[in-house]
Amino acid sequence: MKKIAILAGDGIGPEVMTQTLRVLSTLGLDFETEHGLIGGAAYDEHQSHFPEVTAQLCQSADAVLFGSVGGPIVDAHLPKWHKCEANSILALRQVLGLNVNLRPATLFKSLISISPLKPELIEQGVDIMIIRELLGDIYFGEHKQFIENGLRVATDVARYDEKQIAIAIHQGFKTAMARNKKLVSVDKANVLDTSKLWRCIANEIAPQYPEVTLEHMLVDNCAMQIILNPAQFDTIVTANLFGDIISDAASALPGSLGLMPSASFSADGFGLYEPSGGSAPDIANQNIANPIAQILSLALMLRYSFGMEKTANTIEQAIIKTLEAGFRTSDIYQQGNKKVTTTEFTNIVIDKLLF
Ligand code: IPM
Ligand code: MN
Repeated sequence: MKKIAILAGDGIGPEVMTQTLRVLSTLGLDFETEHGLIGGAAYDEHQSHFPEVTAQLCQSADAVLFGSVGGPIVDAHLPKWHKCEANSILALRQVLGLNVNLRPATLFKSLISISPLKPELIEQGVDIMIIRELLGDIYFGEHKQFIENGLRVATDVARYDEKQIAIAIHQGFKTAMARNKKLVSVDKANVLDTSKLWRCIANEIAPQYPEVTLEHMLVDNCAMQIILNPAQFDTIVTANLFGDIISDAASALPGSLGLMPSASFSADGFGLYEPSGGSAPDIANQNIANPIAQILSLALMLRYSFGMEKTANTIEQAIIKTLEAGFRTSDIYQQGNKKVTTTEFTNIVIDKLLF
């Protein structure tokens, strides 16, 4: 039997995960699920944000379904929360060798009115897939603080080797092939050598995917274009730091952080699935969080880790039908909608799955 490691984490993580597991059990699939601790929840028991037992659980599983980690900003100095996100998430990526991260930004038709963009900018729809390199760049180069000539100095080294870049670029082309065959590679090649190498590798790989049109775009321009004309984008591939920033900008387009799932893969295809938004401690334990991103993360897991395309579509359609029927959690509520709790929203999704 296939095993899924469940890491619910902190904040709204456990609530939306509980609801997502109800969706999974409704489907009657033959999976074993095993829960592990991560983030502040792990710190309480193990004095570590990412204990060895959790690493072992993930390594023994066929896929990981992740919730969110992190505590309230006002408590960031406490050992339980200090560097909690980085300690948990960066270690998890390293231990599992998750090289690439897929972050979609898609508008739901029934939610167009909650997008922060003017209707005329998004009336053609927005459906962008961002591929972010996840194990290189300034994130994993040497970080240092020191004194030089009596001044405090800090350095962070951005480093890429051609193999790391090639993995991300191939993923970009493959993803574009399965979509509209338009790939934009985002870099800062007018300044950075890591970007010059990035661009060069992208150009070298391009002939292997003759059906895909490759365009290069500078990251500052890309940040602007995502707001001014998001419909021009299909698939974007970019380095770790640029991907972090561009994907947050794009994730604002659908109108709530609670809407988008994401998937991370190792070179041999092992997958971790998680909502794009964070742990939202301010609304935790009130049964008001939006479960959509977590439920869609389950759908991505079924599609990519277990090849269950039809079941993944069924889940995605059930979410769309629930929205079309007017049900909304408070983050996406507008006058005239039916405001429901996390549990109630999931009840309706489950109804729509069955009928
Ligand atoms: C993300 C987060 C992480 C990142 C942080 C928490 C280390 O912002 O997943 O986008 O920068 O990758
Ligand atoms: Mn981020």
